[in-house]
Amino acid sequence: SQVCNPTMWPSGSTEGVSPAVVEGGKELVLSDQQLAKYMELFEENINRGLGKETNPTAIVKCFPTYVQHLPDGTEKGKYLALDLGGSNIRVLLVELGTAMNINSKVFTIPLSIMQGQGTLLFDFIADCLIGFVKSNNVEEELPLGFTFSFPLVQKGLKIGILERWTKDFSCPGVIGNDVVTMLQDALERRGHKKICIAAVLNDTTGTLMAAAFKHPRARIGLIVGTGTNGCYWESQQKAELFDEPDSGSGKVIINLEWGAFGDDGALDFIRRSYDEDVDLHSVNPGKQKHEKMISGMYMGELVRLMAEKFTKAGLMFEGRGSVSLFTRGALESSAVSDIERERYGEFTNVKRVCDSLGLTHATREDYCNMRYLCSLISRRAAQMVAAGLSVLMRRVGHKKVAVGIDGTVYKFHPHFHNLMMEKIKDITGDEFDYSLFLVEDGSGIGAALLAAVLARTQQL
Ligand code: GLC
Repeated sequence: SQVCNPTMWPSGSTEGVSPAVVEGGKELVLSDQQLAKYMELFEENINRGLGKETNPTAIVKCFPTYVQHLPDGTEKGKYLALDLGGSNIRVLLVELGTAMNINSKVFTIPLSIMQGQGTLLFDFIADCLIGFVKSNNVEEELPLGFTFSFPLVQKGLKIGILERWTKDFSCPGVIGNDVVTMLQDALERRGHKKICIAAVLNDTTGTLMAAAFKHPRARIGLIVGTGTNGCYWESQQKAELFDEPDSGSGKVIINLEWGAFGDDGALDFIRRSYDEDVDLHSVNPGKQKHEKMISGMYMGELVRLMAEKFTKAGLMFEGRGSVSLFTRGALESSAVSDIERERYGEFTNVKRVCDSLGLTHATREDYCNMRYLCSLISRRAAQMVAAGLSVLMRRVGHKKVAVGIDGTVYKFHPHFHNLMMEKIKDITGDEFDYSLFLVEDGSGIGAALLAAVLARTQQL
């Protein structure tokens, strides 16, 4: 079935697409059976991650976050938040009262810092933070929530040891260290003592916090952006690695780190040559195989690889490509969203993208083919995320459940939300009364909210 937005080309439309391209793309279409197997494997992986005995060799690490309370909307006060996870650092000053007041600034992280010495990264973060605090005339000592969106082994709310880098980061000297201490050290090197780090958290946790602030039924947080990951509200008993005394809720948020799903070959039954290619040429071959099938860092490249193959086989662009079409990374994921956000019957966006790739000889059929390739990749991604979410909803076990989602793919892809809604319905029928909603800047605001929840529950 297809999602129909009357003003746009329906997702997955084969209108005008050449039969050979439809045929060649079939291996990217997930069957119900494949999705059912995916769900079974995902469930197994979660159980392995949560179990004390099985965790050391588990692939989906299911890190306990030490967060045991969600916002209830009564949070008050002034907090700082620092959000690091993609190619930006965002610093926020959040004031909670009758309304939420937010002041924030975004700093771009140069690639040289993303892949340079770890201490330089933390110096850079500290400079952004201090600069922001000064320019906002923050005089008092404010609690800071630190969102650090990479796999952290947490030993407490304020201790997060980097297990490995993901996405585009590869700074030496950070793995195995506590990122809170590294930030504190960098602040001290600058003689700055007025910032107290209240907690370190993942962006999925931040997203869930921000979602719960608005929606009392939010129990799952999701990111589909540069990377992809999820967190959910699990019972403390099942989180065997989490040895703390029950703090009242009997629950704890689990940061799944689901990007790693499949790193042991579990997803090979749906991975294709394009996935293998993307993985081999990434900064972390063999790692984050699930993420590489879904997230924004790789989506454009998957489409480009397909277009390259079909062109070389003489099925597209009259068999004549262009330098760009054959260049790694030349197609951004935002182009995939643009191409699919096209009025029905029009070819404006797809033409613009093709032109920018030097494919000025493209025909109407090429445009249709190109859009079809985009939809194959985005539909596969949305359906996998939907299947994963269905597993999480069953674990949370409430009939009514809300899911807070952030990330560029979810936010900007014109069909992603609808595709997810539809697939979850296919899978779960009437089991749940669910809603998926966008939590803008959840990872930043959520960090401030976590600090506020800790203040409210006297854990600061
Ligand atoms: C990567 C990170 C994970 C993060 C996700 C989304 O998968 O490892 O921690 O949540 O990207 O940003």
